[in-house]
Amino acid sequence: MKISLAKSSPLSQVNFTYGVATAAFQIEGAADSRRACIWDTFCATPDKIKDKSDGLVACDHYHRWEEDLDLIESLEVDAYRFSISWPRVITLNGELDPQGVSFYIKLLDALNKKNIKPYVTLYHWDLPQHLEDNGGWLNRETAYHFRDYVELITQAFGDRVYSYSTLNEPFCSAYLGYELGIHAPGIVGKAFGKQAAHHLLLAHGLGMQALAKNSPNTLNGIVLNVSPCYPKTDAEEDIKAAWAADQNLNHWYVMPVLEGKYPSSIDTLPEAEMPPIEEGDMDIICQPMDYLGLNYYTREVYQATGENEREKWVDESLPFTDMGWEVYPQGLTDILLQLNKQYTLPPLYITENGAAMPDTYANGQVQDTNRIEYFQGHLQAVSDAAEKGVDIRGYFAWSLMDNFEWAEGYEKRFGIVYVDYATQQRTIKASGLAYRDFISRRHFAKSA
Ligand code: FCB
Repeated sequence: MKISLAKSSPLSQVNFTYGVATAAFQIEGAADSRRACIWDTFCATPDKIKDKSDGLVACDHYHRWEEDLDLIESLEVDAYRFSISWPRVITLNGELDPQGVSFYIKLLDALNKKNIKPYVTLYHWDLPQHLEDNGGWLNRETAYHFRDYVELITQAFGDRVYSYSTLNEPFCSAYLGYELGIHAPGIVGKAFGKQAAHHLLLAHGLGMQALAKNSPNTLNGIVLNVSPCYPKTDAEEDIKAAWAADQNLNHWYVMPVLEGKYPSSIDTLPEAEMPPIEEGDMDIICQPMDYLGLNYYTREVYQATGENEREKWVDESLPFTDMGWEVYPQGLTDILLQLNKQYTLPPLYITENGAAMPDTYANGQVQDTNRIEYFQGHLQAVSDAAEKGVDIRGYFAWSLMDNFEWAEGYEKRFGIVYVDYATQQRTIKASGLAYRDFISRRHFAKSA
């Protein structure tokens, strides 16, 4: 099975960027050569990770990075999105750790040599544990520690980076980590979620200022997860429920970074849940951005269950991924069009999109046709939005390879490359081959 789009699609043009994405904690391993982060602690807490696993070895990418870069090159992608492990590059005293920095410099140099553009995420959820011990994202000071880290690391990297994003999915850090407690650091409480979110947004703004100063020539922005929120029925309560979810999930992050204010749903928050906004914060949060990265996996449908209460509904007739998420490509077109209508957007990148599927490895192959269908549907969905005028410049498949899927452990496989964790052998899945062929056909189309 092939992935294909019309030759006239904006996504078929050679200047559209295709990449693969990973994150440090999910692939690196080599935990003994860095300081601890909140995910190490969370994994060591009983019953937090489904398969009781951890990130100590993961895909052992820290030791196998050269082989992995050859793999990335063989996929013929234009770009590689990966994250820096903050506890690997910054010491307890807040100084650069030369060993950690040199790992990433080698990686960056090798990517540049191969002509693969490095898209660097500065924070993909692995907060240094010593900062968590001081309150983590509930403590305003953490935002300033983040700025200091960005200051130092950008100086060390010099001109090796093509694009930076400050944070990956602050919604998940705040809501899953500090409100529901199902991600590290496992803190529970409504007010905590909004407090953490505010400090993450502040960290983004301070990080953007540091980037503007030290790295004005890279594409600088943030990565947010988005899902369109639909009402289950046309009933007024359901419409209100979907609206509230949309404010909380999407606009709570998009609006501050682009317009310097929280959405109007802030007026419905009880006093105890108000974010701790200090004078000047919203101006710091709203910095000029070269792009906005969006991660999309599925849609959300809501029904009201009471006054200000809602629950998610799923359509059993749709296909599902191994995560139990509905496969709903139309949702990606919808959210892109909705955001484009409501905001003056910078250029967009789809910084993550992909699916966990119950892969089977047999005879040296993984025939993941369902994942190819997922990519086909979602690339078409991005193309549809681009044809309707949304300025989208790139697309990154999540993920380069199977890896540590947070609270789900290693049982959920998102890779376009299969990882045998016992031997660390990598095998490109049928979806990886289809993605490679799709990307490379653009070049033939041009020269033909
Ligand atoms: C996103 C995360 C990424 C990965 C995918 C499946 O929320 O950014 O690290 O786990 O989900």
